[in-house]
Parts: sequence; structure tokens; C-alpha cells
Amino acid sequence: MIVGAQWGDEGKGKIVDLLAQRADVVCRYNGGPNAGHTIVADGETYKLRHMPSGILWGKECVIGAGCVVDPPVFVEELDDLEGRGIPTTRVHLSSNAHVIMPWHVVIDRAGERRLGKLRIGTTKRGIGPTYADKALRLGIRVQDLLDPKILRQKLEVALAEKNVWLEAVYGAAPLELEELAARYEQHAQRLRPFIADTSLLVDRALRDRRSVLFEGAHGTLLDLDHGTYPFVTSSSTLAGGAASGIGIGPTRIDDVIGVAKAYVTRVGEGPFPSEIEGPAQQRMRELGGEFGTVTGRDRRCGWLDLVALRYAVRLNGITSLALTKLDVLSAFAEIPVCVRYLLPDGSETEEFPAHQSDFHHCRPVYETLPGWEEPLDDELPPAARAYVDRVERELDVAVSLVGTGAERERVVALS
Ligand code: GDP
Ligand code: IMO
Ligand code: MG
Repeated sequence: MIVGAQWGDEGKGKIVDLLAQRADVVCRYNGGPNAGHTIVADGETYKLRHMPSGILWGKECVIGAGCVVDPPVFVEELDDLEGRGIPTTRVHLSSNAHVIMPWHVVIDRAGERRLGKLRIGTTKRGIGPTYADKALRLGIRVQDLLDPKILRQKLEVALAEKNVWLEAVYGAAPLELEELAARYEQHAQRLRPFIADTSLLVDRALRDRRSVLFEGAHGTLLDLDHGTYPFVTSSSTLAGGAASGIGIGPTRIDDVIGVAKAYVTRVGEGPFPSEIEGPAQQRMRELGGEFGTVTGRDRRCGWLDLVALRYAVRLNGITSLALTKLDVLSAFAEIPVCVRYLLPDGSETEEFPAHQSDFHHCRPVYETLPGWEEPLDDELPPAARAYVDRVERELDVAVSLVGTGAERERVVALS
């Protein structure tokens, strides 16, 4: 199980791709095209949205029931991969996954506009409204696309309500039933060969002792239940989400690898204690190429936050860590690391605050570690090794992989 341990974009795609070489099945269990997982292999850059990051190795790829899928984006991704010589015939899409419909995207955009200063800073891909409809039991599932009668019926029920909202609340044009039904019946034809009972498929793979990887999208602090609500995404991003999102028991997961950057980034709004102040943040952004994969937005950059990472270890049951982008820190003579939070009442804590006001108003307490100021290779210089050792000691978890560059082979395995 590979899970993002911060606010997303930790380099999950790269780590999953690396481990997928030796896996048989790779499964996404949450989220949709709000995810952007980058793999740089053989001089090519792939930005995956829906597809699990095992696709480049031709592995069996599963998109589970906990995911949401936007058919035109999905089809575009399939076509793009096929066009680049990557076969997609082993992709399996859960019939229980929910479908992002055009009204979800309109409502996401309009909702953010309406919130103004209080906006979440979503990716505007319709994610929140789709999961909301799922919880309301008004959603359209992938299997609904397969039966034109059911699809039409569900569209009718949904549009009766959505068109009122679109017009009266959001001032947007209503959607037309016939046109929509025809369009989504066409999408259904493209999706049909991929639709499967993915819970059964994964169960069988596990029974046959095949190696299965679960790929989390987004990050721990974007989890709907335990993240920095309301500045979160709308799915279960944690390791525990894999069991429900795929439809297997939690006892089937052996190891949980947390992926964390050697520093921290965040896209969108919300509190971020170790965010770098002033122009130094721009330097980090440029050094790390920290621009959103999905939206192209500037990622906010900060120093490594051990308090938040300790929380991620707890929430996910992380058994080892992959620390990515350590090479980006080669540029700094000194590297601050947030070891505690100073709370509004003057006390200090190593544990993630349970109360939002404490988190919103805490201040980071830094310790400054020496930098190494040289490019990283397979042999880490002593100061870089000491940085990694410090993370291990603070969290009581081994760092098993260190990222030293974006390319597939730029990774060091530590013993
Ligand atoms: P994901 O969403 O967690 O898969 O991460 P993203 O792909 O959105 O963002 C991570 C970015 O960092 C991508 O551009 C990767 O190519 C890049 N990357 C991953 N690992 C490393 C690393 O160890 N060093 C450097 N310099 N870049 C990396
Ligand atoms: P990967 O998988 C970084 C953030 C958005 C926003 C909040 C809610 O590439 O790590 P949403 O569109 O999901 O309703 O937006 O969550 N967000 C991500 N940030 N990486 C991601 O995915 C993200 N997915 C969602 O920026 O703050
Ligand atoms: Mg990303």
C-alpha cells in the first residue's frame, strides 16, 4: 500500500511506478482526475489522472469503487497512452465507481466562485459534488451507463433537481436530458470493455498469491475525515480507505509505505504551519518545479513538518517511508525542520492538534539541520544521511527509499 503522507504531490506516481515492476496488479482506490501522478521514464513524462501508476509496465490496473471517473477525461487518457505505445487492455474499472457528470463540474466551479475568499481552492474537476451525490444516493454509477433505460431514468431524476440548482442558485444554463443521454450512451460504449467486478478480481489475485499494490491518490492531510477540513478533498485518502475503496478486508494489507517529500507542498487554500515566508518560497518552488500537475497552479512550499508527518504515520499505520525530492534540498546551506508546534496557549506539542483553531493558529518550532550543498548520487553525503536519520528517529519509522531526481531510476534504497 502506497499512500501520500502530506498534502498530495509527494511523488506517489514515481514510487508506485518503481514498485510496480515487481507487482502483478496495481489499484487506485480513491479520487478521480483531481489527481496528477507524474512518471518520468526513458526521457518521457507521463501525467496520469485516472490510471494507476503501474500502467507503464503493462500491469493489471484496477480503478476501484471508491474512485470517481469522468468518462471523457478517462477516454482521453486511454487514447493518449495508446498513442504513446502504452497498452491499456489490462485496465479494469469498477462498475460501482461513481461518474462525474457535467453538472458536477459546473457546481464545483460555481461553488468556489460563490465562496470567494472562503474558497477551498479545488481542482474544479467536479470531485466534491460527485462524492456528495454519492452520499445523497443520487449518484450515477459506472454500471448505470451500461443500460440505456436505467441511465435515462437516473438522468431524469438527477436533472429534475440539478437543473433547478444550476439555474436558480448558480445562474448556469440547465442541461438537456436527450442530449446528455445520447452523449453518455456513447461514452458507455468506450468504457464497456473496461468495466469489471474489481473487488472479485483483486480478491482472486490475492488468493493466487499475486502481488498487489494499492495506490493512494492525494495525501493524508486531504483526507475527508482526518485531514485539514474543510480544506480537503472528498474521499478517503488514508491507507484504510484502500480496503473500502477496493472492496477487500483490511487484513489483506501487509505493508504501508508513506510517501513524503523531504520538504512540504500544498496546492489550494488552508492552513500550512511550515509554509516558507517571503521570497524564499519562490526559490523552493523553482528548485522543485512545484507547479500543479492538474491545474498548473503554484504549489505553496514549506519546510519538512515532522508533527504533521507523525500524524500521517499514525493515521495510516505507515511501516516505512519513501522520502522524495531530497535532491531539491541540495541547494540549501541550512535546512530548517519543524519539530514541534507552538500553540496559542504558549505550550508546545509534537502531536497534531485535534482542534482546528489550535492548528490554524499554531506556529512552527524549527530546528536547523546542516545542508550538504552537493548533488545527490547513490551514495548520500553524511549531512544528507543525517537528515534522513533524523526523520527516522523522530518518527520511529525506517526510511527505505530516497528520491534523488524525477527520473524513474533516481532513487536510493536504504538498508
Ligand atoms: P504525486 O501526485 O504524488 O504522484 O506527485 P506529482 O507527480 O504530482 O508531483 C511530484 C513531482 O516531483 C513530479 O513532477 C515528479 O516527477 C517529481 N519527483 C518525484 N520524485 C522526485 C525526486 O526524488 N526528485 C525530484 N527532483 N523530483 C521528483
Ligand atoms: P495527487 O494525487 C495536491 C487539493 C486541491 C484542493 C483540495 C480539494 O496528485 O497528490 P478537490 O478538487 O479534490 O475537491 O480539491 O484538495 N487536491 C490536491 N492537491 N495533489 C492532489 O492529488 C490533489 N487532489 C486534490 O488542491 O486544495
Ligand atoms: Mg500530483
